Amino acid sequence: MIYRILFNLVLKRTNPESAHHLGVVTIRVLFKLGLIRPANFKDFTAMGLSFNGPLGMAAGFDKDGELIPELYALGFGHVEVGTVTALAQPGNPKPRMFRLPKDRALINRMGFNNNGAKALAEKLSKLRQSSNQLPVIGINLGKSKIVELDRAAEDYAFSANLLKGLGDYYVINVSSPNTPGLRELQETEALRSIILAVQKEIGKDAPLLVKIAPDLTNEAALEVAKLVNQLGLSGMIAANTTISRLNLKSKPSKITEAGGLSGAPLKTRASELIPVLRKELDGDKTIISVGGIETEAEIRSRLESGADLVQVYTGFVYAGPFWPKRIQKNL
Ligand SMILES: Cc1cc2nc3c(=O)[nH]c(=O)nc-3n(C[C@H](O)[C@H](O)[C@H](O)COP(=O)(O)O)c2cc1C
Repeated sequence: MIYRILFNLVLKRTNPESAHHLGVVTIRVLFKLGLIRPANFKDFTAMGLSFNGPLGMAAGFDKDGELIPELYALGFGHVEVGTVTALAQPGNPKPRMFRLPKDRALINRMGFNNNGAKALAEKLSKLRQSSNQLPVIGINLGKSKIVELDRAAEDYAFSANLLKGLGDYYVINVSSPNTPGLRELQETEALRSIILAVQKEIGKDAPLLVKIAPDLTNEAALEVAKLVNQLGLSGMIAANTTISRLNLKSKPSKITEAGGLSGAPLKTRASELIPVLRKELDGDKTIISVGGIETEAEIRSRLESGADLVQVYTGFVYAGPFWPKRIQKNL
């Protein structure tokens, strides 16, 4: 309620990226003042790890791992940091994030703005030494913009090498629409070489997943699933933002912004992918479902149809900081 008023009065009038920064500062202050504290939820086990509730923060919200204890205190059982690239990069020019309230959606073309793998490694290593109240931490790896597609495997491996031992699980992100050509890396042979290169760095035992785009056909998604089985990965994350703009209510001037669409319009496709992947993936593989989650009922339905865990980004932006705990309590 308070968040809804604040959202309508202040956040809606602020540009979305500044609103994000304002949100981050608010969360930090709440945490520092001791007004938000971790709670215990039902234990969920996946990839040999124990999760405090099934709901996690999706990649992209905390790209540089600056808010991990705070997000845990808000009720997220896992936090996926990144996408991180080998070297720091500024991302695309602003504005690069757009709100579509009529569709309860966002469009972003951030372009992997982040401080680079070395800075993230330093952050995480300090955090692991200083804090014992941490969520499961996932590290989402991406390709640097300046690196050619045929050198992608080396580029992912460079980041993986710096970050080995610091993540509870790792993700190969080949599905963001905002790095030119990135999504071509979902094709089997390109993906195989990236997976092998990353596994060589982090070790075969470290949980590793692949995050796919919702725009893949079922056939293409199944090819990725086969590779996940073959190379002994831990599972898949479905899905990233979409380049589709079907069935939206917002003004054409907004809809036509370039970038990835997230939020409510992703719900159908993200849900559809769960049984498709579940049928192909070996029984021990984990599916993390993300895209368009807004309610407890939606989370239950994803878990019932075969997801092991779920993540949210856009739904959290619209529902506010007290939503994760409210939801996790009941799951
Ligand atoms: C502003 C923004 C930035 C994002 N950045 C990343 C990213 O860096 N890496 C990534 O794998 N996904 C990124 N995502 C995608 C989310 O992790 C998630 O897959 C997608 O938004 C669907 O979930 P949602 O409907 O709950 O937002 C981003 C999403 C948004 C809205």
